[in-house]
Amino acid sequence: MKPIQVGLLGIGTVGSGVFNVLQRNQEEIRRRAGRGIEIAMVADLDVERARSIVGEGVQVVNDARAVIANPDIDIVIELIGGYGIAKALVLEAIAAGKHVVTANKALLAVHGTEIFSAASAKGVMVAFEAAVAGGIPIIKALREGLTANRIQWIAGIINGTTNFILSEMRSKGLDFDVVLKEAQRLGYAEADPTFDIEGVDAAHKATIMSAIAFGIPVQFDKAYVEGITQLSAQDIKYAEQLGYRIKLLGITKRADKGVELRVHPSLVPSKRLIANVEGAMNAVVVQGDAVGTTLYYGKGAGSEPTASAVIADLVDIARLHTADPEHRVPHLAFQPNTLTDAMDALPVLPMSEVVTSYYLRLRVADQAGVLAKVTGILAGAGISIDAVLQREADEVGGEDSTQTDLIILTHDTREGTMDGAIAQMQALPTVLAPITRIRKEELN
Ligand code: HSE
Repeated sequence: MKPIQVGLLGIGTVGSGVFNVLQRNQEEIRRRAGRGIEIAMVADLDVERARSIVGEGVQVVNDARAVIANPDIDIVIELIGGYGIAKALVLEAIAAGKHVVTANKALLAVHGTEIFSAASAKGVMVAFEAAVAGGIPIIKALREGLTANRIQWIAGIINGTTNFILSEMRSKGLDFDVVLKEAQRLGYAEADPTFDIEGVDAAHKATIMSAIAFGIPVQFDKAYVEGITQLSAQDIKYAEQLGYRIKLLGITKRADKGVELRVHPSLVPSKRLIANVEGAMNAVVVQGDAVGTTLYYGKGAGSEPTASAVIADLVDIARLHTADPEHRVPHLAFQPNTLTDAMDALPVLPMSEVVTSYYLRLRVADQAGVLAKVTGILAGAGISIDAVLQREADEVGGEDSTQTDLIILTHDTREGTMDGAIAQMQALPTVLAPITRIRKEELN
């Protein structure tokens, strides 16, 4: 059979990885896919650089629309990123009857409903393994491998930049700003790291996993998003003294009244495997009712790890594109006509309805009765305390200090209840600084 013809939009780090891995492993990939997979055309604004990567045998253009317009191209790979031109090009490729492979989590988390419905109407596939956790085949695992399960929750370290920063803060005792600069110098963090450090990138990925796990449309606008910019080295140290590590987790969970969808720093017991995922690595834990807990670990970014996921999608399309569209694996695992109905039974919950446990750090005056007042407020709100740690005043503020840190771990409570208790504690004259609140996930 003639090799399937692929057009590549954008040949940066990931695109060149796709080209190189396809070249290097072409014979094995052909045997797996049942036919060859050939990059026939590349569009990139930097035509010369693109040409230097792909050589003379591939047509290189600076206009992505020329790839979409080429009737010989079967699959378009979108590696441009962002919501702007990438969205227009993906929709145009679908309208032209091309299958699409994309690594663009932002695009799918925000515009997935429109894109998937356009693809279903046209009978083409939109594959996106590379959009979540790079080289880890988590989309395949959730959509196919775990299809027998009622998924209960997913918790993932799905942003390598922030995991690298947190690992460095913990192991070297450094503050966020210092480590961020180092991460940028080493090329782990982008020059503009906003999406990573503010949790937006992780929330895009969590949104996609949430839709696949629970059979609901992608709803990024309902995700709670909190990054790591406010974390202090001190909290990482106190957490460690209590037997926890702080990780930026993307969490989605089935609750009584709906689905939790949230990204924020979380205390995780140090003994959990996921707490020991360090540096730029990614890991996702999935809890299903039949299988129990499963863990997926690997590189969440980088040229060839991400290419590995993109090429897996190309192979899937090469194998399946002749199948009846109604009987292919659905984009979000559940049949599309069931997604919006499920939203009524499984709405994404507001953060005030989320139930979790907490780490609180209060900078307080070192006086009699302070602890009693604080614990009295928690008791009054029905919040049960799990552990309390009080530092010596001189350890916190130096010799003759009259202030100290009070660290409290709580049992599960509703976020709205905790908001009220924190407001009351903050109003005490003996509480001297804004209270730090970090959510705690036991993941058991
Ligand atoms: N910027 C992401 C990360 C990789 O740091 O993990 C691409 O999503």
